[in-house]
This record gives sequence, C-alpha cells and structure tokens, in this order.
Amino acid sequence: MVPDPVVYPINEFGPLMKGLVIGGLGIFHVFLAQFAIGGGMLMCYFQWLAQTGRSPHARAFLDSYFRALVLVSFVVGAVTGVAMWFTTIQVSPATIGLMVDEFHWVWATEWTFFALEIVAGYAFYRCGQRLDDRSRMTLLVLYALAGWFSLFWINGILAWQLTPGNWLAAGQEGGGVWAGFFNPSFWPSLFYRTVSAMAIAALVACVVINTIPSLGRAARTALIGRASHFMVPMLLMPLLGAWYVASMPAESRAWIFGGNVTMTMFLNIAVGSTVLVGGYAILGLWRQHLLINGATATLLVVLAFAATAGGEFVREGVRKPYTVRETLYSNAIRPAEVAALRRTGSVTGDPWPVRDPDQYPNDQLRLGFRVYRAQCSVCHTVHGVNALPELTGTWETDQKRLNIAKLQHTKSFMPPFAGTPEELEALVQWLEWTEAGRPNRWNASRDPAVLASIRASLEAAGTAAGGSSSGGKEDQR
Ligand code: HEC
Repeated sequence: MVPDPVVYPINEFGPLMKGLVIGGLGIFHVFLAQFAIGGGMLMCYFQWLAQTGRSPHARAFLDSYFRALVLVSFVVGAVTGVAMWFTTIQVSPATIGLMVDEFHWVWATEWTFFALEIVAGYAFYRCGQRLDDRSRMTLLVLYALAGWFSLFWINGILAWQLTPGNWLAAGQEGGGVWAGFFNPSFWPSLFYRTVSAMAIAALVACVVINTIPSLGRAARTALIGRASHFMVPMLLMPLLGAWYVASMPAESRAWIFGGNVTMTMFLNIAVGSTVLVGGYAILGLWRQHLLINGATATLLVVLAFAATAGGEFVREGVRKPYTVRETLYSNAIRPAEVAALRRTGSVTGDPWPVRDPDQYPNDQLRLGFRVYRAQCSVCHTVHGVNALPELTGTWETDQKRLNIAKLQHTKSFMPPFAGTPEELEALVQWLEWTEAGRPNRWNASRDPAVLASIRASLEAAGTAAGGSSSGGKEDQR
C-alpha cells in the first residue's frame, strides 16, 4: 500500500538539521516582515506629525526611514519570503501541501494584500516627494493596512498548525476553513506580533534618526521621543504572552516551563531580551530626554532580533511531533496511518533510490537507511545536529530496539514508530553499523525471537502519540 497518493522525495542537508534550516531562515524573515508592518504604521504616525505641524523634523525622518524600509523589507523581505517557500517545500512538502489545500483562498487573499503593499510602497517611493500631504497619507495608510492584513492572514495559518482547535472537532480534519483560521492562538499571536512589529519599527527608527546628518542633538532627541511611543504597547506583552501560552496545548506548555531544557532556555532568551528592550524603552520614555545613540539603538535592534529568534524557536519547537497538530507528524506520516504502516512497512511504497547504494554491505542496512530517511531524518542527521548515532552511541542493542519501538514514550516530542518489526531491526542494525565506523562486512540479523520481542514492544507502545495520557484529545476545544 502506498500511504499517500504522492510520495515526495526526501532531501538531505548533510550535517544541518532540517528544522534548523527552516528555523534559521524563518526567524530572519519574520523579523524583517514584522519590521515592514510596524514600519508602515510608524510612517503614518510621522506623516501625521509632519502635516499637523507637530514635529518640524518628521518629514526629513520619513524620507530617510522609508529608504531603509524599502531596501530592507521589499528586497530582503521578499527574497527571504520566496526562500521560505522554497525551503519548506524541500523539507516538508506534505505539510505545505496540506496548508495549501486547506487554505487556498486565504493564501490568495494574503497575496493580494502583499501586492497592494508593494504597489502602495512603490508609488510612495517614486512620487512621495512630489505629492501633497493628503495623498502621501493615503498611500502610507494603504501601505500600512496592507502590511498588517498580510500578517492577519498568515498568522491564522501559522497559528492553526499549533492549535487547530475546532477544525479538528468533528474528530476529523475538515471542521472548516474558518474554524481552523480563527483558532485558539489566533488572537493572542496576532496582537503579540503587532506589538512586536511596532517595537521593532521604533527601534529601527532610533538607528535611522542617528544616521541623518542634518539633525542636531535636540532634533534627534525629539524624534526619538516620538518614535518611542511605538514601544509603549510593549507594556501589554506580559499579558498577551500569558494569553498565548494559555492557548497552547497543555504538554507544549509543560515543555517550555522546564519539561524540555532547550525550549525552556529559548523561552528565557525571548523573555529576557524583551524585558531588556522594554525596560530601556520605558525608562527612556520616563526620563524624557534620554538620547539613544546609534550604537545603543543598534544593540537594541539586535536584542529584539534575539527575542524574535527565541520566540519563533519556541513556537516551532512546541509543535513537535506534529507540523499540524494531531493531523500530520513532522515526518509526513498521519496519526491514522501508523497502525497500517506497522503492518505494511513505512518504505514499501517509497520509490526513491538510495544514494550510493554500494556503500552498505547488505540489504538490511539499505533498508535501515531508508527507514531512517523516511521516519527520522526530518529531525535527526547521520553526522551533525541531533545526530542519531551520537544519541544512541552508548546504548546496547536491545536498548535501541526497545526505545525506538516505544519512540513516542522515549520522548513525547517524537512520533510513534510507524513500520514493521523487520524495518525497526534494520534501523537498529544500520545505527550499529554506523556507530561501528561503517565496516565493509556486516552480518544481517534475522533472529525470529528478536523480531517477536520487537513486535511485542511495538504493541505495548500502541500507535497513539505519546505526550498527554489522553493522546492530546483534551486540547481540542
Ligand atoms: C519530530 C521530530 C523527531 C522525529 C521525527 C524523530 N525524533 Fe528522535 N528526537 C527528537 C528530538 C528533538 C530529540 C531530543 C534530542 C535531545 O534531547 O538532545 C530526539 C531524541 C532521540 C533519541 C534520544 C532519546 C534520549 O532519551 O536520549 C533517540 C534514540 C531518537 N531520537 C531516535 C529517533 C528515531 C529512531 C527516529 C525515527 C524513527 C526519531 N528519533 C524521529 C526529535 C525527533
């Protein structure tokens, strides 16, 4: 049986863990995109200050800031956006396929807002200098609204991956597009991202203000005072953050509060950097005349980047073992398929050849590699980040058999093993052979007693996800 009508090829990135490839690029892209969104709002504010005569230097600032915004967000933002599509379809075509299937028109809508954003921005870029205040404001408002709405649409899809909510309610996916879109973490993450976007825009403004040669110290201080108004909403962050965390599945919450050291640490990085940025901004505001110089402002932008990186890492991390909760495991296997794959095998329908097949001394090792490629390689590597042979290097053979057979209980952020006992034994042999330095000769193992004991362990483990005792059902609301 072929488990999916389409069997996608599985790419390998050598020592780079695939999640890190997406994560690294994604963090960069999210930061730029949030800057573009906050930047649009900030420019409307400064245009208002300029045209109502509230700030004599607002106009000079606007023109410098807009150049930075166009360069960074149009060029780098758009390129990294396309790069995101490109890498995610390399790493997880099944996930992207599901997202496109389910939210086709939402993506299309998002794209029209993106197009509007580009057109309004480009018109302002070409003609802004010559236009009257009213037209300038119209273009900037269009630009800002379009930017924010592209966040609105994307946010629903990303939030759905972690908290599909009522979309699952019927016991089946297909609760409807809107049930998936307006899911439990939709509003908290939309508001949180909006506040982050405003703060990032304000911090970049502080950098830009320091680079405008025509401005004296007093003018700079005044402009920075205005820009820092965009950081005041950061006061809401603890509340919005708590709301977001409350909307998460219970087991994900347990991981970030100590259950998983890496995720806990990244959460602390996010919170710590946010507190530093916010603290500086609030103190600066209170002490009205605090001049943030270019170096300090840049440092704050870097801290904001660290906060974004930590936050995005946590958001991606807590979704494990799924890319779409309770619907699709990270390795593109669906929970409902596991039981059948344990009978038919996970790579029986895999048409893709093994690279350089002669490097393996026997068929069992080739099979083991294919099983690794299909079920494990999305989160593990052979040599490199989270390398499997490193993790199991000190384990005895039976320990490997047992822990892999009960994979979802070994660590609940891994999916259950979804193959036959023969495949599992092949995987274990491939691991042992790799750990032994890939010798030229290796005897295949075919002890029926071993296979029987693996089968018993698989049965004891069950086919449901590890994690919460209810298999995550309590999270459906
Ligand atoms: C959804 C991602 C994901 C998938 C798929 C996955 N793992 Fe893991 N695995 C992890 C993470 C994350 C760790 C934690 C590494 C750490 O603790 O440093 C881990 C740890 C392990 C460990 C060490 C456990 C321990 O307690 O020390 C083993 C063994 C392991 N994985 C085997 C596998 C095998 C075999 C497969 C494929 C059948 C697999 N994993 C599939 C994410 C995954």
